[in-house]
Amino acid sequence: MSPEVLAADLAAFDQRHLWHPYSPTPAAMDPLPIASAEGVYLTCVDGRRLIDGMSSWWAAAHGHSHPQITAAMHAQIDTMSHVMFGGLTHQPAVRLAELLLDITDEPLTKIFYADSGSVSVEVAIKMALQYQRGTGHPERTKLLTWRSGYHGDTFGPMSVCDPDGGMHSLWRGVLAEQVFAPAPPVAGSAPEAHQAYLAAMEELIDDRIAGIIIEPIVQGAGGMRFHDPELVAGVRALCDRYGLVFIADEIATGFGRTGAMFATQAAGVTPDILCVGKALTGGSMTLAAVLATDAIAAAIDTPAGGGALMHGPTFMGNPLACAAAAAAVDLVRSRYWEPLVARISEELRTGLADLGHDPRVADVRVLGAIGVVELVEPCDMRAATDAAVAHGVWLRPFGKLIYTMPPFISTTDEVATICTAIHAAVAAQRTPGA
Ligand SMILES: Cc1ncc(COP(=O)(O)O)c(C=O)c1O
Repeated sequence: MSPEVLAADLAAFDQRHLWHPYSPTPAAMDPLPIASAEGVYLTCVDGRRLIDGMSSWWAAAHGHSHPQITAAMHAQIDTMSHVMFGGLTHQPAVRLAELLLDITDEPLTKIFYADSGSVSVEVAIKMALQYQRGTGHPERTKLLTWRSGYHGDTFGPMSVCDPDGGMHSLWRGVLAEQVFAPAPPVAGSAPEAHQAYLAAMEELIDDRIAGIIIEPIVQGAGGMRFHDPELVAGVRALCDRYGLVFIADEIATGFGRTGAMFATQAAGVTPDILCVGKALTGGSMTLAAVLATDAIAAAIDTPAGGGALMHGPTFMGNPLACAAAAAAVDLVRSRYWEPLVARISEELRTGLADLGHDPRVADVRVLGAIGVVELVEPCDMRAATDAAVAHGVWLRPFGKLIYTMPPFISTTDEVATICTAIHAAVAAQRTPGA
C-alpha cells in the first residue's frame, strides 16, 4: 500500500487483515494510523499530534526517536544489523552488558539476551528450574507468586499471571499449575499487614516450590496495583530461608519508572534473577535481558543442572537492538531522569487528586512517573479514548483503569495536558447508579 493512502484506507486494510493486542479481528475500535513519533508526540497520518501518555506501553521512557538512541542505531545498521550469537560475539552486546552490570547490583554477573519481555520470563523460569536441579532439588518445579501479577503472554509467563486476569480458565490443562498467594496488601499498609501477608505466603511454600516470581512495587497489566517495599524485602527473606530463587520481573518497573533505578533497589534487595525489557532500548526495538548471579549460573552448569542454559533464540543479542539499548542504558545511567520523574510524580499527584472525589472513581494513585485512576465500573474504552484524543493525548485504558506513564521528558504543560485528558476520559464514563 502506497504511503500516500488516506488514514481511513490504512485503518480499513488493517481491520481486514491485522490482529492487534488482545483483539478480535476486526478489532472493536478502528486503530489510529500513526505516521511518525518524536519526543513525547505521536503524529497521526491525518496530521493530528498526540502526547504518548503511555510511553508506548512503558517503553519510550526517554521519548520517541531520542537523538542518542537513533544515532547509535544508524551507526550500527551501517556496520552490522544482525549476526547469530551462537559462537559469535560483538561490541554492542558486550558494551550493553558492561552498562547493565554497572547499574545493577554486584551479585548479578551473568546476562542472557532475549527477544521480548515474555521470552525473558520464560528464560528466568528455566534458569530457576535448572538451578534447583543443579543443587539437588529436581522435585522443585513450581513457582510461587501473588495474584494480580502479569508476566507476559507466552505459556510459561502466562502460568504465573493472575489466574483470573490471565485467563487461566481458558488454558486449564495446558498451563503449568503454579502456586498463588493472594494479591499483596496495597501500598501504605501497616507493618502488621505485611507480616501477616508474608506469614500466609510462607505457608504456601513446600518442597515443590523452586522460586518466587513477582513484579516488585508495581504490578502492571495485572491491575496497576502498588505495594510497599517491605513486602519485596520479605519475599527476598523467604527465598533465603527456603533456598528458593527470587525472580524479579522489572520489565515495566526498571530504568527509573518508579523513581528508583530498579524497584528492587528501592526495597534494598537484590534478586537472584532480574528480568528487564521495555525501556531497555528506550522503546526503539524489541529486546529484553535476564541477569543472574554466579550461583545460579554455576548450578545450571553442573551435569544435574543440565550442563548449559537450554535456550538460544535466533535473534539473541541482535547487534542493532543491543546498540540501541546501550545508548538507552547510557542515558538511564546518567540519572538525568531522577529530578524529572520526581517532578512528574508531583504533577500527576496534584493534577489527578480531585478525581478521588468523583463518584465514577474508586481510587487515584501515583508512584514515580505512573498515574492511575481506577474506576468503580469497567471503563468504556471507546468513550475514554475518544475523549483523551480530543484533548491531544493517547491513552489506552483497560479493565477499570485509566492510567498514564508519560515519557520522562514530558514538560509540566504536557503533564497538565495528560491530566486534563484523564479528567475528560473519566467525565466520558457513566456515573454508577445514574
Ligand atoms: C511486568 C511485565 N512482564 C512481562 C511483560 C511481557 O513483556 P513483552 O510484552 O515484551 O513480552 C510485560 C509487558 O507488559 C510486563 O509488564
